[in-house]
Amino acid sequence: MALADFLKELDALAASATAAFQASSDPSALEAARIEYVGAKQGRLKAVQKNMGQVDPADRPLAGKRLNEVKAEIERAMVMATERLTAGKGAAGPVKPFDPTLPGRPVRLGRLHPITQTIDELIAIMGRLGFSVADGPEIEDEWHNFEALNIPLEHPARDPLDNFYLSVAGRGRTAMLLRSQTSTVQIRVMERTPPPVRIITLGRVYRPDTADATHYPMFHQMEGLLVDRRVTMADLKSVLRMFATSYLGSEVRIRFRPSFFPFTEPSVEVDYHWNDQWIEFGGAGMVDPNVLRAVGYDPEDVTGFAFGLGVERLCMRRHHITDIREFYRNDIRFLHQF
Ligand code: PHE
Repeated sequence: MALADFLKELDALAASATAAFQASSDPSALEAARIEYVGAKQGRLKAVQKNMGQVDPADRPLAGKRLNEVKAEIERAMVMATERLTAGKGAAGPVKPFDPTLPGRPVRLGRLHPITQTIDELIAIMGRLGFSVADGPEIEDEWHNFEALNIPLEHPARDPLDNFYLSVAGRGRTAMLLRSQTSTVQIRVMERTPPPVRIITLGRVYRPDTADATHYPMFHQMEGLLVDRRVTMADLKSVLRMFATSYLGSEVRIRFRPSFFPFTEPSVEVDYHWNDQWIEFGGAGMVDPNVLRAVGYDPEDVTGFAFGLGVERLCMRRHHITDIREFYRNDIRFLHQF
């Protein structure tokens, strides 16, 4: 068989197959065209392909190349016809037209984290008592975390096992650590402001505690500081009482137990009585004269009080949460309840 004849046959096949697929207007016509042209047994493509054996062996590579092109052309025509006939039909049938009267999909609203909500509320309560908000870094130097707070080098609170140190002290260089208390901000505020000061600060503190129901290596504190002329322990107690009744309710009672902090003298532990239980909420006391001196205040001229309360604890009491780890599991089922 001459090459030219074979090619002519191929061209005719391509033209009529393409036309047949384009003309098929329903699935059964498409199926009929498929069987006629590319059917495995009697298909016309198969028949033409058989003729290639009669082409002069020297011309076969050219014949084969053209055959493959025609196969691809027919394939393309078939795919296009298939797509044309199935377009707009998903597995569930034809696409429904857009219905503007249907209600919209509900949007799931996010919420503030319960600790953020608590912080906002504490800021509002303390704001009504005249305290403004101050801020400080979470990565601190030893001066602000210890030294200026009257915690000397040999004090056990500076133990590497009780703090997250980020660097060691070198010649003329302080060690850096994640702050272990918000009392650091007392120093930062007094260093940059002359008395009187009346501030709170709210933020994260870090201690290498093993996490359990009441401990977590990161938690939040609310620190308060008031320095002015003639400030007394009575002022401290009334501020903490007003705070407690605002946050937990008028039935709350407050108790001071003698304690020790290097940066307050005298120092107390602050307990709140609520739902038949005394709970320790933090520490407080009169600012130690050494601290006032460290920031350049005159302890003969001004006195002050300071307190530090655990924010998680306050929130847990209020909402009857029994495990501090719930706050940081990132479980939407828990977080959505607040
Ligand atoms: N900084 C203390 C603590 O973290 C709490 C405190 C603050 C005590 C202010 C007295 C005065 O335990």
